[in-house]
Amino acid sequence: MTGVAIASYLSEADERILANDVLDGLTRPFKELPPKHFYDARGSELFEQICELPEYYPTRTEAGILGDWADEIVARTGAGELVELGSGTADKARILLDAMARAGTLRRYVPLDVAERMVADSARQLVEEYDGLEVHGVIGDFERHLDHVPDTDGTPRIVALLGGTVGNFPPGTRRTLLRNMGTLLGRDDRLLLGTDLVKDPAVIEAAYDDRAGVTAEFNRNLLHVINRELGANFVADQFEHVAFFDDKHQWVEMRLRALAACSVEIGDLGMTVEFEAGEELRTEISAKFTRERLEADYRAAGLALEHWYTDEDELFALSLAGREGAQSPAG
Ligand SMILES: C[S@@+](CC[C@H](N)C(=O)[O-])C[C@H]1O[C@@H](n2cnc3c(N)ncnc32)[C@H](O)[C@@H]1O
Repeated sequence: MTGVAIASYLSEADERILANDVLDGLTRPFKELPPKHFYDARGSELFEQICELPEYYPTRTEAGILGDWADEIVARTGAGELVELGSGTADKARILLDAMARAGTLRRYVPLDVAERMVADSARQLVEEYDGLEVHGVIGDFERHLDHVPDTDGTPRIVALLGGTVGNFPPGTRRTLLRNMGTLLGRDDRLLLGTDLVKDPAVIEAAYDDRAGVTAEFNRNLLHVINRELGANFVADQFEHVAFFDDKHQWVEMRLRALAACSVEIGDLGMTVEFEAGEELRTEISAKFTRERLEADYRAAGLALEHWYTDEDELFALSLAGREGAQSPAG
């Protein structure tokens, strides 16, 4: 059977999750919110613009590596199905789907993202673009809804998390996510992970603080999301965008810094949050990896690195991993 099926697992419960994250994150001594709340329709649009910026090397570098190696990855794994977590516009998926089509193995694409419109739009476009492709879109949170990813019919699959998204999680949560992703892998299935690599901090910082100010707008969009979804009254312009590389943790951080002391009412939660002048709210971490660091994460998650693909400047890497003890696929 070919065609599109879309299932949504986000509901009112998810408004509560934003509420819980705000309640928890904005009442801590050091304020912090998880980056998944950036991605409403406006946030997704801004992220697309970020991907086009001259300073933002990860997207084009990862796409270049995929372009160079997609045929080899498909030949090695025999994959006919792609499950993509945090699929966004599915631009990179197309590179893999093209390779599967060339190999004659292409059967199904399963995009999973919290951005509802992205999943629906890309699913409809892709069935038009690829003859006989089945798309099973999952609108959901990959930290909570992996059990809604459909089983395979035995076709080997690739479970992908691209764009360096795995770096948005601190080490413990990251290993839990990788372990959970491992549950989607049978003996012949493989994980394909995109990771940004450790490099000159100035290059990293420029990628998260572009001259045109798009990343700053993306960062402040989080405040607009909270205003709209939870009846808050953040004045977004009163917060400045901050991005810096933390050498100790080997990650880049984005924060929003209050330009002046302010009180913010979060109407739906009946709470007031106080910011001192200069106080910062952390909105994202994005860890940068070495091969050794990633191997350690894989091992802790019951996975094993099998292949490592990188660009000639070693800016970004894609890695193929399987469950520990799974046989290396022929190729
Ligand atoms: C950095 S973008 C990467 C998009 C695309 N994969 C790429 O490589 O360009 C992160 C994507 O993951 C999605 N996302 C972030 N956190 C998520 C979560 N917890 N569950 C599902 N999707 C999530 C966002 O909506 C966004 O589309």
